[in-house]
This record gives sequence, structure tokens and C-alpha cells, in this order.
Amino acid sequence: MQAAAHDLRAAGKTIGFVPTMGSLHEGHLSLVRRSAAENAITAVSIFVNPAQFGPKEDYEKYPRDETGDIKLLERLSVDIVFMPDAEEMYAADPAITISVGGIGSILCGASRQGHFNGVATVVAKLFNIVMPSRAYFGQKDFQQTVIIRRLVSELDFDVDVIVCPVVREEDGLAMSSRNVYLGTEDRAAALILYRSLQAAAEMIRAGTADSDAVRSAVLKLIMTEPRAVLEYLEILEPETFKPVSEINSSVVICAAAVFGSTRLIDNIITN
Ligand code: PAJ
Repeated sequence: MQAAAHDLRAAGKTIGFVPTMGSLHEGHLSLVRRSAAENAITAVSIFVNPAQFGPKEDYEKYPRDETGDIKLLERLSVDIVFMPDAEEMYAADPAITISVGGIGSILCGASRQGHFNGVATVVAKLFNIVMPSRAYFGQKDFQQTVIIRRLVSELDFDVDVIVCPVVREEDGLAMSSRNVYLGTEDRAAALILYRSLQAAAEMIRAGTADSDAVRSAVLKLIMTEPRAVLEYLEILEPETFKPVSEINSSVVICAAAVFGSTRLIDNIITN
């Protein structure tokens, strides 16, 4: 992969890169289309990264569909699909990992200890292997985009990070490879997540500036859905990722909730 990337870069071709864990859906494909429109070459990686799963998480049962994924990518005329296995990616006893500071320990990082270290390490490795000019990430994983931007800026990667909008099902549920875990009742209940974020954004648009007031109204709304177990609901400044108390500019509202045994995340940015 690295040799191919060297040759392409030497020939003056731009490489657009979409890192994924496979089980591709329209959210992933929106990133691939954007890359194909902006670069001579588009490379997609499919790698279920063991380093970003906790010991009690779903690494073993994470949905995998290599044949289906490759068919979808062929239809989009993707140039390169990079599918390493874990033994190839990681030394048997790795000594070096990237450690993410405070922004990796809040929100998703609070319940998924070490998760963002695993993400940052694998993305750094993938950048070194694929050598992209541009890399495409979804706003769906907003905290991940904040961390990747810091990774690129603080470790001086020569890569432009491009963040693409959240792709949703028709009823508003953010697309996710994990949505296949949801039973019928939890699938219906899961709509409360986006509805709550929309309600929060609406309150802010209508002039509520006190973020505690927004949070408590929205917490009440989420509690109307007994199947939802809220993990967090936070109102943050999108660039610094710091909590906002008085809302007077754009904020990102991030939420995570568990339905049955499936943990879902979503977010919305107000302007
Ligand atoms: P994965 O969950 O497969 O997602 C790959 C990319 O697709 C991420 O940038 C994610 O934000 C984006 N994506 C997922 N669902 C989306 C949606 N509904 N709308 C828009 N974009 C969406 O995120 C990862 O993999 C991994 O952490 C990875 C970056 C590959 C590192 O292992």
C-alpha cells in the first residue's frame, strides 16, 4: 500500500482517503463520493481496529461484510481498498501508542476508556501507510473529528481533514453499522435521540441561552422514552470542545444513549 501511494504521489496524483471499519452504509459512502469528486485517487480502508474496543465491547461481534463492502466500493469505482489484518497492523507486543489528552476522556471517552488512544494510533498508522492528501471523516462521530484534527495539527501530518455531514435514515436515525443490533422496539425508541437533539437546537434557535435550561428540558424529553438509557447530553463549543454555559454562538450538542444492549451516539451543530 505504501509503495503504491509513493508512486501515485510521485506521479502528481492526489489521494483521498476514507478510513472505515467496514459494514458500509450510506454514511460511509457519502464520504467516498466526496473523496472521489475531489481527488484523482480514492482509497478506502476496512479494518475493525481491535485497539479501539474495550475488553467488554463488541469487537468479536462487530458486523463484518467484506464481500458486500467490496461490491459497494466497486460500484463507486473506488481505486484502492486497503484491508489489512490485525497481525499485519500491530506488532505482537506494541511499545508505542498515541495518548490523547483530556478531550479523549470526556463524553464517549468516559465510558470507553482508551478508545480514542486506539483511534488516534490507528489513524496515524493509516495516514503513514496510505499517505493521503485529504482524509474524510463523518460529523456523526463528532468527538472523533475533534481528536483527528488535533492529531493532524499536533503531530504535523501533511493531510487535510474534511468533515462531512451526518447521513440519516428517512425517519432521522443517524446511520451506523451498529443499527443492525437494534430489535424492532429499540429501533423505534432510538428516534428519541435525534428528536431530543432537534428539540435542543430549536430551543436555542428560539432564544434560550442558558445551556442548563436546555439540558434539563431535553433530559425530561428523553426520559419520556423508557427504553432509552441516557449516557450523556452535552452542549459544547465545537472548536475547543469545552462545555458552554451561556450560548451566544454556534454549539455542538452531543448525546449518547443505550437501547437494549446497543449504544448509539448522535449530535447536532447549531449556527
Ligand atoms: P466507522 O465507524 O466505520 O466510520 C468510518 C467513517 O464513517 C467515520 O469517519 C464516521 O464518522 C463516518 N460515518 C459513520 N456513520 C456516518 C453517518 N451516518 N454519516 C456520516 N458519516 C458517517 O469511525 C470509525 O469507523 C473508526 O473509528 C476509524 C476512523 C475507521 C478508525 O478505526
